[in-house]
Amino acid sequence: MTALVPSPAEVVEGESRYDRLIQPARVHGTLYTDPSIFAEELRKIWHKTWVFVGHESEVPEPNDYVRKQLADQDVVMTRDKDGEVHLLINRCAHRGLQVCDDKAGNSSSFRCPYHGWTYRNTGELLGYPYNKGYGGKNKLELGMGKVARVASYQGFVFGSLAQEGPSLEEHLGAAKGEIDRLVGLSPEGKVSLDAGWLRHQTKANWKFLAENETDGYHPQFVHGSIFGVAGSPIGALYSDNSTAVTRALGDGHSENDLRPEFRTFDEPMRWFGTTPDKVPGYLASMAESYGEDAHRRTVEGAPHVMIFPNLFIAEIQVFNIQPVGVGECVQYSTAVQFAGGHELNMRMVSQSIGSVGPAGMLLADDTEMYERNQRGVEMADPEWLDVRRGLVRETVDEDGFTIGAATDETAMRGFWSHYKSLMEADA
Ligand code: FES
Repeated sequence: MTALVPSPAEVVEGESRYDRLIQPARVHGTLYTDPSIFAEELRKIWHKTWVFVGHESEVPEPNDYVRKQLADQDVVMTRDKDGEVHLLINRCAHRGLQVCDDKAGNSSSFRCPYHGWTYRNTGELLGYPYNKGYGGKNKLELGMGKVARVASYQGFVFGSLAQEGPSLEEHLGAAKGEIDRLVGLSPEGKVSLDAGWLRHQTKANWKFLAENETDGYHPQFVHGSIFGVAGSPIGALYSDNSTAVTRALGDGHSENDLRPEFRTFDEPMRWFGTTPDKVPGYLASMAESYGEDAHRRTVEGAPHVMIFPNLFIAEIQVFNIQPVGVGECVQYSTAVQFAGGHELNMRMVSQSIGSVGPAGMLLADDTEMYERNQRGVEMADPEWLDVRRGLVRETVDEDGFTIGAATDETAMRGFWSHYKSLMEADA
């Protein structure tokens, strides 16, 4: 076999490793398969930037807790007695045992089963048995580990394992507006993610999922069968004739902005694939809350946005992607629930089960693509993945963001540009 390009392992003066691997129109296959790159991603991305972990609605009451994942870290999201949310690293300060075993519950403290050390749900060590063995009255200054920085936006909880760095709001940048848009579809201006999470173990590198979420090129093909069976108009949103756009929102975030299509039809709830007569209570509450603006909101619908590196809001569902290894990740999904959502909430649950549930007809097809993608890039030739689609026609919108047609790979290029900047930074 003849290599099409020089090996990425070759050192070229003046070029970083990632200059070689990430180019404007193509990215190298080893980005998805090289364990050393995955290890570097853990350090420079997952242990550094803001990572979506969960939602405040999962711990609604004081002392509620729920187990979560932050990349390779097992964390416990807790709400203390004063209402503050914490992310504890699930590790005992004595000999490193996993302290919390239950998936969720309500407790003001956690007791390690090995030697009985007990921790407050804020992480501080409360006590330990037979303390004379530790020299007397002064309590050991130890505790469970904590995610260094915890912050939330509209109830979405993010953690950063780095002590310092951009604030969450700086990290979210333009993506904040997309979260606001989702929340603005609740008559009470509030969403919850408490409908239960499905766990999809996927034998593929996490970046295949992140890239696919706003890839408008694949739906007509990967999901063509379900669109046909269901008579769904969704496929047309991602056709060559669509007026929808793909937008790189900066900082690795991106969206498929479907609003131009929905504005053309000017029909409330078309974005949800239903008609106003099916959700009268919801629409009445929206009108009561937002007056004339309710029409615009319910015509334009919810966002389809990928927030770097792992939060995907797919109109009615939220996905949380977490890496497991270079060739494996988990994608958690749940149905969005709107405060004051009336009958729409149950419909969102039903649609989520039908589309991304265990027998769902969308995610199963996507997952087949992710896993075949992974198996494909483990082959040696050709070495590159092409991401040039739309380069010849992309433009800049009035807000300064790069936009492409509905089927263009503008979002992927935005993802890789940000990824490269993080990977080239000092650890
Ligand atoms: Fe937890 Fe000993 S390892 S108490």
